[in-house]
Amino acid sequence: MSSDPLLQPYKLKHLTLRNRIIVTSHEPAYPEDGMPKERYLAYTVERAKGGVAMTMTAGSAAVSKDSPPVFNNLLAYKDEIVPWIRQMTDAVHEEGAAIMIQLTHLGRRTRWDKGDWLPVLAPSHHREASHRAFPKKIEDWDIERIIKDFADAAERMKAGGMDGVELEAYGHLIDQFVSPLTNELDGPYGGSLDNRMRFCMDVFKAIRSRVGDDFILGVRYTADERLPGGTGVSEGIEISKRLKESGLIDYLNVIRGHIDTDAGLTDVIPIQGMANAPHLDFAGEIRAATNFPTFHAAKIPDVATARHAIASGKVDMIGMTRAHMTDPHIVRKIIEKREDEIRPCVGANYCLDRIYQGGAAYCIHNAATGRELTMPHIVAKADSRKKIVVVGAGPAGLEAARVAGERGHEVVVFEAASDPGGQIRLTALSPRRKEMMSIIDWRMAQCEKHGVAIRFNAWAEAETIEAENPDVVIVATGGVAHTDVLSKGNEFVVSSWDIISGDAKAGTNVLIFDDAGDHAALQAAEFLAGAGAKVEIMTPDRSFSPEVMAMNLVPYMRSLQKLDVTFTVTYRLESVEKNGNQLIANVGSDYGGISKQRIVDQVVVNHGTIPLDDIYFELKPRSTNHGEISQDELIAGQPQSVVRNAQGQFQLFRIGDAVSARNTHAAIYDALRLAKDI
Ligand SMILES: Cc1cc2nc3c(=O)[nH]c(=O)nc-3n(C[C@H](O)[C@H](O)[C@H](O)COP(=O)(O)O)c2cc1C
Ligand code: SF4
Repeated sequence: MSSDPLLQPYKLKHLTLRNRIIVTSHEPAYPEDGMPKERYLAYTVERAKGGVAMTMTAGSAAVSKDSPPVFNNLLAYKDEIVPWIRQMTDAVHEEGAAIMIQLTHLGRRTRWDKGDWLPVLAPSHHREASHRAFPKKIEDWDIERIIKDFADAAERMKAGGMDGVELEAYGHLIDQFVSPLTNELDGPYGGSLDNRMRFCMDVFKAIRSRVGDDFILGVRYTADERLPGGTGVSEGIEISKRLKESGLIDYLNVIRGHIDTDAGLTDVIPIQGMANAPHLDFAGEIRAATNFPTFHAAKIPDVATARHAIASGKVDMIGMTRAHMTDPHIVRKIIEKREDEIRPCVGANYCLDRIYQGGAAYCIHNAATGRELTMPHIVAKADSRKKIVVVGAGPAGLEAARVAGERGHEVVVFEAASDPGGQIRLTALSPRRKEMMSIIDWRMAQCEKHGVAIRFNAWAEAETIEAENPDVVIVATGGVAHTDVLSKGNEFVVSSWDIISGDAKAGTNVLIFDDAGDHAALQAAEFLAGAGAKVEIMTPDRSFSPEVMAMNLVPYMRSLQKLDVTFTVTYRLESVEKNGNQLIANVGSDYGGISKQRIVDQVVVNHGTIPLDDIYFELKPRSTNHGEISQDELIAGQPQSVVRNAQGQFQLFRIGDAVSARNTHAAIYDALRLAKDI
């Protein structure tokens, strides 16, 4: 038996967990009609197959109708969920993992214009900044109803074969009762700590009396809200002790912080550039104070930190949740001594931000996550070996090369630069975003493992490519910054990439015209203002940085507000003129009737990229398919069969930003879904 602390079994009441790594509750927003159907099943089972000890499915499954999901959660208040849950629990158990589910009532953390349009409720009228609903103050009959709803839902989960349920008690209704900041009730549910914890205890009692003792019951709760007037450390420790002493629950899952604002949520679930394991020591303090089974997750992205968490006795089970979204097979790789092959979570929070903005979680650099029904986590070998030339070693090119290499093809990559990475290399120049380079580093290591030849400083000409005698050519040359968007004066502006790369010297009074709304404008602003410039970001949109989603925006705002960067929305830069050493920026508006000027010494335009596609168009007439990709075959997961020129020498495909400016995930998905069928 292994001596690795992470691989030791753990006895949780009657359950034996096969190792110490769990996936904590999270809702990837994959339910269909509020039910965990085939997609949900495939996602969950993949992680069980990968060896995790326990997967806690369904963050925040709703127990009541007046807790409508804001991002597509499971509806645990419906009886029809039981067979879907049964299908999932059977499949997970078959793979040797345990499975639990998190139940909740969101209280004020939702909206009245969702679900059945019922009023939102909470133990006070204070609204939550993030979800904005003004709640009704909860009444006695609401409390009775919701306690029963929790018990009913728990009974459904037991009937569906779950090993247990966890209650969500940070930021949601249970915590809204516990926190003095959100509870303005008089007794018996408001006032003293006893009273504020009464709702939580009543829910546990109701559940326990329904499900009996041989069912795990746990709580994920904040033991320190880190807000003036909120639950502090000493009260948090007292709450922890009372939870244990209630005898009603089997473990504590410790959270530190509050989630009522984007900034608070980001401190609870830190993103790239923030410290790893920021709350682990605190979780250890709770374990020491209670001597009770303690679980915890918050940016433990790597096995070494997880191992430390267990070996040091800080916690009993360690969560690696986003890490499992990036690589579902972490435990298997630890067992097989292939830790170095684990695809690393880079903390980009594309997954989390996207459940709100895009409606489903996707991992920035694992396009198979959430697409298990159509995309493989482990690529199958091809029937016959082909020669494949890839042009470009950015994320799209390297993903295509990795997948083709894993399929057993002979792969050559041409890269004009001296290093791999393309736009990611530029992105990673911001110190806070340097984790992004792991997207490239992991692919480089995988390419090496699969014998992919990468030629740097190699500008691929059509003849060089043809000399390789390829069966397939994949053009992944990316794009170049596109600044040619003004009616006059394009020659006077620089791009955000010029600023980030250092190719353009920072001005002192700078207007950034951000028409793309992505990270690059904010990164450029950070570089400029950091160098001492006065910076204004102007956008024609009605909100700034629309492509930089909520949690990703937090570190930028923390930095840019301190640097006094200003934001102007709904104005469009139309032209630029030179006036001595200064530039005159002429500004209008899509709403019409406005014309203003700004006098600055530098104008930066952020307008995405334009494809670098010369080589593609040069190769096009020489290819069998004239570069055409059959969308039907691509979507159906079939090999590409278009023939437009039988005399052609090779199949030609174009992916990523070489087609049109999109994002890292889109580039990687383009590559995976094409190359897996070559
Ligand atoms: C897409 C997504 C949805 C989540 N939803 C929930 C949720 O509903 N309830 C919950 O307690 N935590 C939720 N989480 C938080 C995770 O359980 C976990 O605490 C967080 O990701 C930090 O752990 P990690 O760094 O190991 O990922 C969610 C996380 C992600 C990525
Ligand atoms: S999107 Fe980023 S944070 Fe989320 S799982 Fe993938 S790498 Fe990790």
